[in-house]
Amino acid sequence: MAASQKEPVNIDFAGPLNRPVSGLLTWVDQRFPLISTWKAHLSEYYAPKNFNFWYFFGALSMLVLIQITTGIFLTMNYKPDASMAFASVEYIMREVPGGWLIRYMHSTGASAFFICVYLHMFRGLMYGSYQRPRELIWIFGVLIFLTLMGEAFFGYLLPWGQMSFWGAQVIVNLFGTVPLIGPDLAVWIRGDFVVSDATLNRFFAFHVIALPLVLLGLVAAHILALHEGGSNNPDGVEIKDKKDAKGIPLDGIPFHPYYTVKDMFGASVFLFVFFAIVFFAPEVGGYFLEHNNFVPADPLKTPEHIAPVWYFTPYYSILRAVPPMFESQFPGVAAMGASTLIFFLMPWLDRSPVRSIRYRGLEYKLWLAVFVVSFLVLGWLGTKPTDFLGKIGGIETATLLARFFTVLYFAFFVLMPWYSARDKTKPVPERVTG
Ligand code: HEM
Repeated sequence: MAASQKEPVNIDFAGPLNRPVSGLLTWVDQRFPLISTWKAHLSEYYAPKNFNFWYFFGALSMLVLIQITTGIFLTMNYKPDASMAFASVEYIMREVPGGWLIRYMHSTGASAFFICVYLHMFRGLMYGSYQRPRELIWIFGVLIFLTLMGEAFFGYLLPWGQMSFWGAQVIVNLFGTVPLIGPDLAVWIRGDFVVSDATLNRFFAFHVIALPLVLLGLVAAHILALHEGGSNNPDGVEIKDKKDAKGIPLDGIPFHPYYTVKDMFGASVFLFVFFAIVFFAPEVGGYFLEHNNFVPADPLKTPEHIAPVWYFTPYYSILRAVPPMFESQFPGVAAMGASTLIFFLMPWLDRSPVRSIRYRGLEYKLWLAVFVVSFLVLGWLGTKPTDFLGKIGGIETATLLARFFTVLYFAFFVLMPWYSARDKTKPVPERVTG
C-alpha cells in the first residue's frame, strides 16, 4: 500500500499545542512502523505483573551498553600503537578534560557488565527461564556472554600495561596447546611470534568495532526472541494461558509505563553505586583495575603473579585445576572451554516438570547452591597464586581445592538430567502469586 493510502493512526495527544507533535508522528508513522513498534514492544507488550528484584538485571545490562559511548570517546585520544598506547592512556587520565571520568566509567563499566550479566544468568537458573519455549532467548544469551568475554579480553590488552601484555601472552599461548594446529593458531591470532604491535592493532579492531557490532546484533536477537515467546516470571507460570475477552493475559501489565518506571528506579540505584565506585574507588582494591597494569608492558620482565580480572577467575581456576596430560596443558584448556560452553545445554539438561525454584524440591535448590558456592570459591582461588595455602602431600592445597570445586561445578550440569527428574516438585498455581 502506498504511504499516502495508509490509514492515519489515532494518536492520543489532545489539545491544540500538541497538534504539530501528533501531525509529525502521523507523518512519520505513514512512512515507518513507529507506533506499531512502540505498541508491540512497550505499551502493548504484556509482561507478568510479578517481576521482582532479579528482573532488573536485563534492563541494567542494556544500560551498561553505554560502554560503547564511553569507548567512542576514549578512542578519540587513545593510540593503538605499542610505543604509545600506555602513554596515551596516561594522557587521557591527566591531560584530556574529563578524560579520567570517561576512562573510569569504561573500566568500571566492564566489571559492572559482568556483575549484571552474572546476576541475570543466575535469575535464569532460579526461575527456569531457559526452558521451553524460551530456549533461543537463552542461547542468544550464552552467545552474548561468550562475545562479552572476548570483548573484555581484547579490551584488556589496549592499555599495554604489564597485566595486559602478560595476560594476553598466557591466554594466546593456551590456543598453542590445541593438538596439531596449536602453534600455528597462536601465531595466527597474535600476528607475530610474541604479543606485539601487530597483536595490539588487531585486538583494537576487534574491541572497537567487530565485537561491539556482534554484541548489538545478539542483544537485538535476544530481545526479539523474548518478545516473541513472552517473559517468564518468578512463579514460572505461563501468563499467556489465561487471557481476558480482548486476548490480554490476565496476569500481564503493559511494559510501558509500569516496567519502564520500575526499571528507571533500578537504574537510579545502580547508577548511584556505579558512580560511587567511579568517583571514590575506581580500582576497587585491584579487582577492577589491577595494580600491575599501572606499570608499562615489559616483554623482558614476567610479573611474579599473573591473574586475570575477577570475572575470568572461575574459569582460570578450572584451567589450573586440571593436570597436564603427556606434558600438554590442553586438558585444562578444554575443561575451561567446556565450563562456559556447557551453559548452552541447560534447556536440555533440565528435565524438571516445573520452572521456578519456588516449586522445585530440595535437590535442585541444593545443587544450585553447590554451583554458586563452587563458582565463588573458584573465582576467589583464581585471584591467588597456587601456593598461597601451602601444600598437602606435595600438591598445593589451593590446587586440590580448585579440583574439588571444579568437579562440583561440572556435576551441577552433568547430573542435572538425573536429579532434576527425580526431584519432588510442588504443584504450580494456575495464576501468578505476586
Ligand atoms: C548484554 C547482555 C544482555 C542483555 C542486554 C540482556 C537483556 C535482557 C532483557 C532486557 C531481558 C528482559 C528483562 C529481564 O528479564 O530481565 C532479558 C531476558 C532474558 N535474558 Fe538476557 N540479556 C543479556 C545477557 C543474557 C545472558 C548472558 C543470558 C544467559 C546466558 C540471558 C538470558 C536471558 C533469559 C533466559 C531471559 C528471559 C528471562 C525471563 O523471562 O525470565 N541474557 N535479557
